[in-house]
Formats: sequence, structure tokens, C-alpha cells
Amino acid sequence: MSASASWRAAANWTRSWTTASPPPIRRRSPGRAEAAAIPNPELVKEPVLASTDILFQPFHSKNLDLANRIVMAPMTRSFSPGGVPGANVADYYARRAEGQVGLIITEGTVVNRAGAANDPSVPHFHGEAALEGWARVVEAVHAKGGKIAPQLWHVGAAINPARRDETHAESPSGLFKDGRPWGHEMSVADIDATIAAFAQAAADAKRIGFDAIELHGAHGYLIDQFQWQGTNHRPDVWGTDRSRFAREVVAAVRAAIGPDTPLILRLSQWKQQDYETKLAATPQALADWLNPLAEAGVDIFHCSQRRFWEPEFEGSNLNFAGWAKKQTGKPTITVGSVGLSGEFIAGFGGEASEPTSIDGLVDRLAADEFDLVAVGRALIVDPDWAVKVREGRHDFAPFQREALGTLY
Ligand SMILES: Cc1cc2nc3c(=O)[nH]c(=O)nc-3n(C[C@H](O)[C@H](O)[C@H](O)COP(=O)(O)O)c2cc1C
Repeated sequence: MSASASWRAAANWTRSWTTASPPPIRRRSPGRAEAAAIPNPELVKEPVLASTDILFQPFHSKNLDLANRIVMAPMTRSFSPGGVPGANVADYYARRAEGQVGLIITEGTVVNRAGAANDPSVPHFHGEAALEGWARVVEAVHAKGGKIAPQLWHVGAAINPARRDETHAESPSGLFKDGRPWGHEMSVADIDATIAAFAQAAADAKRIGFDAIELHGAHGYLIDQFQWQGTNHRPDVWGTDRSRFAREVVAAVRAAIGPDTPLILRLSQWKQQDYETKLAATPQALADWLNPLAEAGVDIFHCSQRRFWEPEFEGSNLNFAGWAKKQTGKPTITVGSVGLSGEFIAGFGGEASEPTSIDGLVDRLAADEFDLVAVGRALIVDPDWAVKVREGRHDFAPFQREALGTLY
């Protein structure tokens, strides 16, 4: 299966798991479409924890204070019929707040563009009913002492194969990837309206009490489609300067929320369309990419990797978040297979992951490589994951794809 096909299968996971009879679990190697993965160094250790105190040190930055360093990674769950998050969604996030997660980043929630969502049960971040639903989520999380940011999202030409209608699919060049047309190329008016939609969503997030805002600029979705040459062939300024769209979205959001609301930008080198591609091939190219985004208003970079232990560039052990912190001086969040043996795309394909040690992660945090640690699947299967780490417990749950079928 190609990388894109595997992602498209992955993108359809929730639909599969919300049907009455789930499909059979297929085992596949995540390595088929990419260079051999660096094995998880934590596997050789018992899932016993060294001192994890560092994870429970408070985080202070210019405009964000958190009780500890653990962040819930944004994870699409598609339990919001008609785009409206209900009481079940509020309870789900409140459970993680009660479980001592320092900052919850919600699942991707879409801005007000007809083509922004690729699934009808993905929550909207526009319209009275959806925003009321989100206000109740914020209230529930705050009642448990937690903090929460919405992840604002537009999928662009990233395809959910279950959604065959490409009428509203919009992207820089009407491409899922080179040679794979999908939907239409955005006009300059579309681009302006989309930037305004991100800004409006951010203003609404601030108004209804979110503690921070995250923009989804990763994984080959719309913002990333502008950044990547594989999906941006535009001859105009939006293509000759491929970072421009991301910078303009950041600047518009910053203008909408003012200086005091924390703004997180999630980025990845890898794309769902190509695991091996890199927007920045060198540390200097990374600095040239990220520093203008920081100047436009990003406070924290959320650096998505599928395996946090993989070095970003040859000659150094620093990972993506490590290099982003070094090159920008901004706080960064790392992510990718924390506390689990296998990575998440293979998890969508049915590969189970076992609990692992987090000693190597803790060592990196202690060395100040990054500031915060996002945890995905481990928090789906166990809302009390952080509590268990803190208490030095051993009863961690494995991750199995079946876990995506329920929202608990
Ligand atoms: C069910 C599921 C849904 C996801 N949805 C999103 C999403 O909406 N936005 C996003 O940026 N990443 C998404 N991701 C990626 C996660 O945020 C995270 O980067 C990834 O799962 C790696 O972390 P983990 O190994 O701890 O699970 C999703 C992952 C999973 C498992």
C-alpha cells in the first residue's frame, strides 16, 4: 500500500469504527513506503519509569502557564454529528483534564469554508450550535482544572475516500499530490476568505474562553499544501513564496486574538502524501522557514513526528522539536509514539502498540531539548495516563485500533 493510500485508509478510520461491525484488523508494516524506521530505543527497557518529575514541572511562557509538561495531542474522533460537539465530547475532554493533562489540544475542528471538513462528524468551529457545544467543552475542562486549545483545521485536497464529492474541495493547485488532482485550485478571493475564516475562528475561540489556539499546519492538509512543492504549483505570489499562506494565516489570527492569547502552530516535515519529504533539508532551511512564522505571531511550535526519537538532521541527535527550539528560541512541543511501541499510522492499519518506557523522552526533556510533550493514543486508551506516570504505576494500557470505536 502506498503512503497516500495508507493515509487515506487511515483517514477513514472513524467511519469504519463507528459502524456496527468493524472491519477485520489488517497487519501492515509502516516501513513499506518509507526508509527503514529507527527502532524504538525504549523497547529494550521495561515500561518502568525513572524519575519523571521533570514532566510535572510547571511550564511558564510569555502568555501560557501550565501545571505540567503533558499535552493531549489533537486527535480527530468524528463523534460530532452535524459538526456539533455534544455532551459526550465535553465529558471526553473533561476526563483528560481530570487525569492531569497540562494542556488539551482538541481534535481538528474546521473553519467556516465549505471544503474544510472531510467527514460529516468532524466538529465545526463555526455556527451557533457548534460554538455553543465548544463553550460547554471549555466549561467542562475548566471545571476539572484543565486548560484547552482548539486545533483549527482545513483539510484542503486531503481526501477521505468515503467522501466522494469533490465539489467544495479547495487547495492551492487542486492537487492531493503531484499527478493526483482533487477539487479545484483556489482563487485569490478563496485564499483571502480562508484566511479570514481562520481569523474568525480564532476570535471565536478566544471569546468562548479557550486558553490557547492551535493552527493545523501539518500532515499535508491545507496550510501544509501551500508550503509543499508537491501540492503548490502556483505561479503567483502564493506559490513563488510557499510560506506566505501560513504566515498570512498566523498574522491574521494574531491580529484577531491580540498579543496575550497563546498561538501554537503545528507543523510536520512529513506529509500524509509522502512520509520521506522534508520542507527543510538543513538546519538553516528550518530557521528560514520557522523564524518568519515566529515573527508573524507564533508563540509555540508543535513539531509533529511519528517517532519522537528520530533525529531531524544528520550529525545531531536533536529531534524536530529540538531543532525548532534551537533555531527559533521559541518553546516547542514534541510528539510521536510516546509511551507506546509502534507509531500511529500503523495503528490505524491495525498494528497494536504495547506500553513502553519513557526514560529516553524524560532525558531529552531534562536536557531542555523541547518544553512540552504531546501524547496521543496513550491518552485515548487511558484518560489517567498522566496520573499513572506521576505515581510511577505500571498498569498502562496497550493501544489497539478498536479503541477508536468509542469515545470515553
Ligand atoms: C485517532 C487519531 C486522530 C488524529 N487526528 C489528528 C488531528 O485531527 N490533527 C492532528 O494534527 N493530528 C492528528 N493525529 C495525530 C496525533 O496528533 C499524533 O501526532 C499522533 O497520534 C502521534 O502521537 P501518538 O504516537 O502518541 O499517538 C491523530 C492521531 C490519531 C491516533
